Amino acid sequence: MTLDDYRLSAEPAYHPCGQEIAHYRAAYAARLPVMLKGPTGCGKTRFVEHMAWALERPLITVSCHEDMTASDLVGRYLLGPEGTHWQDGPLTLAVRHGAICYLDEIVEARQDTTVIIHALTDNRRILPLEKKGELVQAHPDFQLVISYNPGYQSVLKDLKESTKQRFCAMDFDYPDPGIEAAIVASQAGISEGTARQLVQIAGKSRNLRGQGLDEGASTRMLIHAGRLMEAGLDLRQACQLALITPITDDADMRQALAAAVDACA
Ligand SMILES: Nc1ncnc2c1ncn2[C@@H]1O[C@H](COP(=O)(O)OP(=O)(O)O)[C@@H](O)[C@H]1O
Ligand SMILES: [Mg+2]
Repeated sequence: MTLDDYRLSAEPAYHPCGQEIAHYRAAYAARLPVMLKGPTGCGKTRFVEHMAWALERPLITVSCHEDMTASDLVGRYLLGPEGTHWQDGPLTLAVRHGAICYLDEIVEARQDTTVIIHALTDNRRILPLEKKGELVQAHPDFQLVISYNPGYQSVLKDLKESTKQRFCAMDFDYPDPGIEAAIVASQAGISEGTARQLVQIAGKSRNLRGQGLDEGASTRMLIHAGRLMEAGLDLRQACQLALITPITDDADMRQALAAAVDACA
């Protein structure tokens, strides 16, 4: 893969919800690392894609998980026909060549993995490749972005204070109902009226958060429901498939959500 493979060729559709575009531009201009906070499916990834496109930077995204090691990020020696050779990992690639590196759901990674970003996110802007014995100075255009879902955090799985304090942070949430309906209508190809119904249902599910639901229906789920309606299902069927069955196995909760759908149908 070359860095050009990570360039976005078309503009990722993004509806602004506030000042986030101007704020991000300022953070990028200052080359400060950015943390996007918010529930799943509310537009964080889409926003970074949009900004990478707007700033004409390649975007390298890494989905973090608990088995991820530092080598998965920085690279490793590989055995080839002519002996071993070093292969840069996704973070190193971004650091060397000036891409935006997006570490999605950073808290999923173990803390010993997360600390490798420390020297990158202060004035030094360097990435140490310990196994290779190299210090990579970050390209002037490099920027690090991480996402973080505050809802999932436990004491065991949180960012270290020393990590958190290196980042500017932006709060993301589900868009206001009017904007969310416009997003759902345009991305699912359904009418604004139907999209508004879906947004109303989502609002009810979001009110059940903490009362048996970990999180309410996301914008992503509403788009899925809309696409199912576009494919011929009615509102109740689409909501069952896209909104209710995925988020809970609890029979009472499913019933409560189905009643919320009926009330909006
Ligand atoms: N502000 C927005 N403008 C356009 N589309 C959006 C917006 N917010 C959410 N979406 C839609 O919702 C989907 C899920 O958003 P995503 O960025 O993947 O969520 P997250 O990264 O927060 O989990 C996107 O693929 C996009 O279709
Ligand atoms: Mg995401």
